[in-house]
Amino acid sequence: PMTTPASTGTTDGTVPAADPDDTAPREAASRRRTFAVISHPDAGKSTLTEALALHGGAIGQAGIVQGKGGRRGVVSDWLEMEKARGISITSAALQFTYRDRVVNLLDTPGHADFSEDTYRVLTAVDSAVMLVDAAKGMERQTVKLFEVCRLRGLPIVTVVNKWDRPGREALELLDEFAEVTGMTPTPVLWPVGIGGDFRGLLDLRPGTAPDAAYIAFDEGSGGATRTTWTPLSLEEGLARDGEVLTTAQEEVELVLDSNGPHDEASFRAGRTTPVMFAAAVLNRGVEQLLDLLVDTAPPPADRPAQDGGVRSVGDAFSGQVFKVQAGMDAAHRDHVAFIRVSSGRFQRGETVLNARTGKPVGTKYAHRVFGGSRTGVEDAWPGDVVAIVNATGVRVGDTLYAGRKVAYPPIPTFAPEHFAVCRAKDLGRYKQFQRGITELHHEGVVQTLRSDLRGEPAPVLAAVGPMQFDVVQHRMAGEFGCEVLLEPLPYSIARRTTAEHAPLLDAVPGVEVLRSLDGDVFALFPDRWRLQRIERENPDVVLDALAADS
Ligand code: G4P
Repeated sequence: PMTTPASTGTTDGTVPAADPDDTAPREAASRRRTFAVISHPDAGKSTLTEALALHGGAIGQAGIVQGKGGRRGVVSDWLEMEKARGISITSAALQFTYRDRVVNLLDTPGHADFSEDTYRVLTAVDSAVMLVDAAKGMERQTVKLFEVCRLRGLPIVTVVNKWDRPGREALELLDEFAEVTGMTPTPVLWPVGIGGDFRGLLDLRPGTAPDAAYIAFDEGSGGATRTTWTPLSLEEGLARDGEVLTTAQEEVELVLDSNGPHDEASFRAGRTTPVMFAAAVLNRGVEQLLDLLVDTAPPPADRPAQDGGVRSVGDAFSGQVFKVQAGMDAAHRDHVAFIRVSSGRFQRGETVLNARTGKPVGTKYAHRVFGGSRTGVEDAWPGDVVAIVNATGVRVGDTLYAGRKVAYPPIPTFAPEHFAVCRAKDLGRYKQFQRGITELHHEGVVQTLRSDLRGEPAPVLAAVGPMQFDVVQHRMAGEFGCEVLLEPLPYSIARRTTAEHAPLLDAVPGVEVLRSLDGDVFALFPDRWRLQRIERENPDVVLDALAADS
């Protein structure tokens, strides 16, 4: 039963409205779990993704055995190919059925580098899995991605990976999670055996039967196939693993005493994070992670719109574009928009409207994309991701809808850390240069800033990760016929300020003030020290941090 006011018929007389609170999309939404894995490079995200796909039956053995060392087939090949071509890495979704649920795992690329795409994916999920290397704990990119999740209010499941290898102590890792994230870690699957001797998991999930309290991994199982285990009672476990199980029980008691048990409401509110341990490479803990997501992660919910209203998941189709991939294929001017469905049923072929432009968008070429494979999609439901090919005129952040009009709040601009002046190599190609830069800005490939001092033909490009600059160079030359020169600038921090305070900041040596195309005013600083001194000396100057600024 929904409380959203139902509006029947069209308010703008364009597309016929579907039943405004249909049970089919509501039921489909309740069965879906849409999440992403956030981690530092090398923590095992590709390995975990493949392990999840294997458990979900999304890829068969074939995909895996083609991969290196019996692993890593489909997922990583595509990444390598894209890297070699110097273009941005596809963010797409892996979909599979697990138990009676549909799992959508959105890919957050960022192996060698970061880009805004990585952050934007996190605006399209309902929860996140924070994957941490047992030997390394919270690393730099994990922290940054966590910050974005926190801004979005996303519930986070923490997975300590590589427990089959010597690493840090479990209790010490939990302390670090609490300190860095401010969330209380609650144990749900606690490791038996120190790092390097991973015997099994104490199952602390609510509703676990006493005779299955210990998930004892069967020796020799796991690897390229599923790990098998035997559910044991604690007494049986003690007989098998003795002292190490007692140690695990003692640790669990300590953690439960101070942090309390997993609680779904606190988890969903972002106050606590359930913690589990795994060895993705051995498929240990992978099935338990899937169960945890399916049982406690939130399904797609009704979504606030920009005008203050709420779009019910049961309303007619709507969704937001969180990524636009273009220039994949210069010959075909490929322009693919990735949409996360928020409400209703998406049907291929149905014409939907772009809320920003009011223009219709054809959906004849709708796909599911993961890795290098695209499959046609006939319909999709809240929580699903659809890729629409040839979606010209569609930008990141746009809302597409049928029925009653809706526009979702824009996707935030994330704090850039890399800045470069961009010039056409051949000044005679000014027109092509302008056209290309404007297009790339609108697609959200980079942020574009202008300086009154530097003049029109030399915008400053601002990026979250330097790979975004490679994409600009590649696409400007290949797609817009204009080679560009990029001159890096020595700034690493951007702050939003006001026109009023711009002259004061511009006068400080080493600081530069620039304007975005949307009219925002930004001050760029070479380092934190410079910024902090200005803040101290001019407490009244507006210097607002941007999203995910650490
Ligand atoms: P990423 O996507 O987060 O960057 O990490 P990826 O999955 O590529 O894993 C990074 C390395 O960590 C890989 O080793 C992978 O095999 C290893 N790894 C992942 N999960 C586990 C685990 O649970 N236990 C152990 N011991 N290792 C794990 P590599 O040597 O770089 O590659 P490969 O030659 O093993 O394929």
